[in-house]
Amino acid sequence: MRRSALDFLGGVQSISLAQLSAILAVTNRPVCADFGGARFIQLYLYAHRVDGLEIGVYRFWPEPSELEQTRCGDQRVAAAGLSLAQELAGNACVAFSMIGDIERAVRAHGDRGYRYVHFEAGAIGHRLYLAAEALGLGATGIGAFYDEEVHRYLNLAPEQGQVVYHFAIGYPAADPRLEA
Ligand SMILES: Cc1cc2nc3c(=O)[nH]c(=O)nc-3n(C[C@H](O)[C@H](O)[C@H](O)COP(=O)(O)O)c2cc1C
Repeated sequence: MRRSALDFLGGVQSISLAQLSAILAVTNRPVCADFGGARFIQLYLYAHRVDGLEIGVYRFWPEPSELEQTRCGDQRVAAAGLSLAQELAGNACVAFSMIGDIERAVRAHGDRGYRYVHFEAGAIGHRLYLAAEALGLGATGIGAFYDEEVHRYLNLAPEQGQVVYHFAIGYPAADPRLEA
């Protein structure tokens, strides 16, 4: 039954902090692969509508599970703009940038490290899809974004890595194409 939302409802309906916590918890489960010992993806969130969480940008620290606010204010236009002007990233309740530390992965694994960063991002993305579905929400992986603008917006130093995947979670808009 899982489908990618083609857009989200926007409006005022929010998700709870407990739902967001459950979603974030699955991103930190172990990756079952021979390269899965070290993690190379850092998550940033654009919180649009999460009860009890001020709107803004947050960095997710998995151990211990904490959100560090790095920007204040409405992020809907920015999240959509950075995602190649796809409105769904602004209409979601929360959008994500996954930042991959490719240099560290390549130091650890040679050239294959580049692929492993993307494998990890894909695994996290699929967990986000399933967690959202289990919570009665919708999700969409977003592979289209403006790399340099994302780095600038998140104030990433070059050694922090580069954006490899975006994601959005919220209340999916009904669309007949999803019935097919
Ligand atoms: C890596 C990846 C990148 C994607 N990028 C986008 C995107 O930029 N915009 C979008 O609307 N959907 C995006 N999608 C959603 C796909 O269009 C969708 O998964 C695909 O059409 C299959 O539909 P389904 O997920 O409902 O089975 C992406 C999905 C994945 C897995």
